[in-house]
Amino acid sequence: MEQHLTFIGGGNIALAIYGGLLEAGYPSHRITVADPSSEQGALATKMGLTWQADNQSAIRDADIVMICVKPNWVETVCQELRAELQQQTLVSVAAGVTTEQISRWSGTDRVIRCMPNTPALVKTGMMGLFSNPAVDAATCTAVESLFNSVGLTAWFDQESDLDAVTAISGSGPAYFFYLMEAMISAAESFGIAPSVARTLVVQTALGAANMAADSAHSPNALRRHVTSPGGTTEAACDLLTSADFTALVAAACTAAKARSEALSAH
Ligand SMILES: NC(=O)c1ccc[n+]([C@@H]2O[C@H](COP(=O)([O-])OP(=O)(O)OC[C@H]3O[C@@H](n4cnc5c(N)ncnc54)[C@H](OP(=O)(O)O)[C@@H]3O)[C@@H](O)[C@H]2O)c1
Repeated sequence: MEQHLTFIGGGNIALAIYGGLLEAGYPSHRITVADPSSEQGALATKMGLTWQADNQSAIRDADIVMICVKPNWVETVCQELRAELQQQTLVSVAAGVTTEQISRWSGTDRVIRCMPNTPALVKTGMMGLFSNPAVDAATCTAVESLFNSVGLTAWFDQESDLDAVTAISGSGPAYFFYLMEAMISAAESFGIAPSVARTLVVQTALGAANMAADSAHSPNALRRHVTSPGGTTEAACDLLTSADFTALVAAACTAAKARSEALSAH
């Protein structure tokens, strides 16, 4: 039988994960959502899940407790759950909150940290995972298989690597959306209708991502393959290169990583 999952916090990322699990056929009666907001409760109930406003009663029957609140709420939530925790494993998706902090606040060593991203909602999420050594292999496998139903997973030996994961795949969807916004604006400035501009850009992003995922070649090789000397793609890429596009993206990722490290330091 599937593990009983309780989500503490039913916002964006919880919806992405439980929505993806439901899409993948996970039984709705094995999922509980605890959130003080009746709006989130109504959403969960509409999708056939159990909604509880009280976190402590919500975890009583849980095997796995997914902590999906904002990072500044994690300490309060862990302290609240402390008295009810027995064999449940805590899986936190909160950016920058360490397994050591969660163990200290909750009183359990059974802690896994996950850095997911919102494409989990459409089953193309990317989840970076780190486990406290106290979690047994069977539980790690069960958690990995849950997340595999909403995307791909990668385990990391060093917890500090999750700061890099946060900067690349956790925050990464927003970088691609930003590029899409800029390309849609450019298309509109050429006189293309907004709805057509959106289709041109989104379909191109999807096609490029699918090619990169399916091909044995690197993105660099794929780019060179479509860049003819003296052609249109070369004109655009030359301009991006002269504006130091690679360094700009690296600086943006470094800023996100530094922010994740700063959050962990508290
Ligand atoms: N969004 C992403 O792309 C993303 C990616 C990776 C990781 N994460 C991590 O996911 C976590 C949640 O982010 P989010 O974007 O899903 O935030 P969110 O949409 O604000 O969802 C958090 C939910 O938790 C509820 N909540 C607040 N206090 C609570 C409590 N004491 N007990 C139970 N529920 C409580 C909030 O209710 P109210 O709105 O009423 O306060 C809200 O519905 C964060 O720690 C973030 O670092 C997010």
